[in-house]
Amino acid sequence: MKNNPQYLNRLINLIKDIYKEKNIQLHRPILNKNDQKFLVDCVKSNYVSSVGMYVNDFEKKISDITGAKYTIATVNGTSALHIAMITCGIERNNEVLTQSVTFVGTCNAISYIKAHPIFIDVDKDTMSMSPLSLKKFLNKNAKKIKNLTYNKKTGRVIRACLPVHTFGFPARIREIKKICKEWNIKLIEDAAESLGSYIGKKHTGTYGDISAISFNGNKIITTGGGGMVLTNNRNYAERARHLSTTARIKQGYEYIHDEIGYNYRLPNINAALGCSQVSMLDEFLEAKLLIHEIYARFMELNNISFLSERKGTKSNNWLFAMIASNEDEKKMVLDTTNKKSIMTRPLWKLMHKLPMYKNAIKAQLPNSIWLEDRVINLPSSVPINYNKKILESIKNEIT
Ligand SMILES: Cc1ncc(COP(=O)(O)O)c(C=O)c1O
Repeated sequence: MKNNPQYLNRLINLIKDIYKEKNIQLHRPILNKNDQKFLVDCVKSNYVSSVGMYVNDFEKKISDITGAKYTIATVNGTSALHIAMITCGIERNNEVLTQSVTFVGTCNAISYIKAHPIFIDVDKDTMSMSPLSLKKFLNKNAKKIKNLTYNKKTGRVIRACLPVHTFGFPARIREIKKICKEWNIKLIEDAAESLGSYIGKKHTGTYGDISAISFNGNKIITTGGGGMVLTNNRNYAERARHLSTTARIKQGYEYIHDEIGYNYRLPNINAALGCSQVSMLDEFLEAKLLIHEIYARFMELNNISFLSERKGTKSNNWLFAMIASNEDEKKMVLDTTNKKSIMTRPLWKLMHKLPMYKNAIKAQLPNSIWLEDRVINLPSSVPINYNKKILESIKNEIT
């Protein structure tokens, strides 16, 4: 049995210092009195389901934050992705370029349409889709005929590209967008984790044709379960809204449904929580930035790589990720911390290794595999009773 790495006890003490909880979760929501007030108000209004002022209000608030012209609230991030893809015209048997480093929801949304994912490698420094890997894959495997791009081997249309802003850290989306434009491929951003993250001054999720955010309980702000479609395209917005509300058309006192739609509208009661949570976003971002600085300083002093925002981008620091030297070290850190009630987690199992995607088409994935062997997600919540001064003093005491 090998020894634990030297830094581990100090890292455990640091995490305990930041969180001061018995059971330290990976990412817990922070819910306060104001959240309760909004929820009670919603219950009192009797509008707890798919109609109500909170849903519209929540959509408007997310529009204001992200700068997206249109926002459509859904029951979760996966349904937002599903709707985004149908809206963009992805069809059965199309192929969708995505990354193997992601949460399964990304690929589920592709599979719901009976389209096929193609796994592209990620960059080590963003853990998000590598433009170079994307370019290489297309140059080698795709051909353009008229306005469509085909996979030379399968003969299927490669219709869209679905990169993820992994852990809230912005992908190289400008470069990816350029490649998509060259190949006439739709760009759908999986911004599930990246509310509050920017590339330059532009919010993640506003670069592509359409995108999706998640408000699951583990995200930077939560509606319990919830999601949002973002787009600047009016036709897409109208279609997304129609499809996510069971394709319902009001005719006087009658409703008709003019195609097969989805019952994906976010309930008002979840949106009420969203409206209250959104008012905390700036404070959550500030706290997370400070925790990132604490971890980053520790990692630098101990020569450990740590996921950090690239120059010219701003991350919401949703989930912190350190990179162990090798797989053994990763396992030791995971075992020891979890035994001490500090929840740490390895990277998701790579999508191309899951039974449903084991035969999927893929690029060479050396970085994805390298990261799978080494990445450890550290506790990333905003601390309960967050106090800026306390976190600053923890940061200053790291030597
Ligand atoms: C990258 C990514 N994509 C999609 C989703 C799906 O979101 P949800 O869980 O709200 O369906 C999540 C989050 O859970 C995610 O992290």
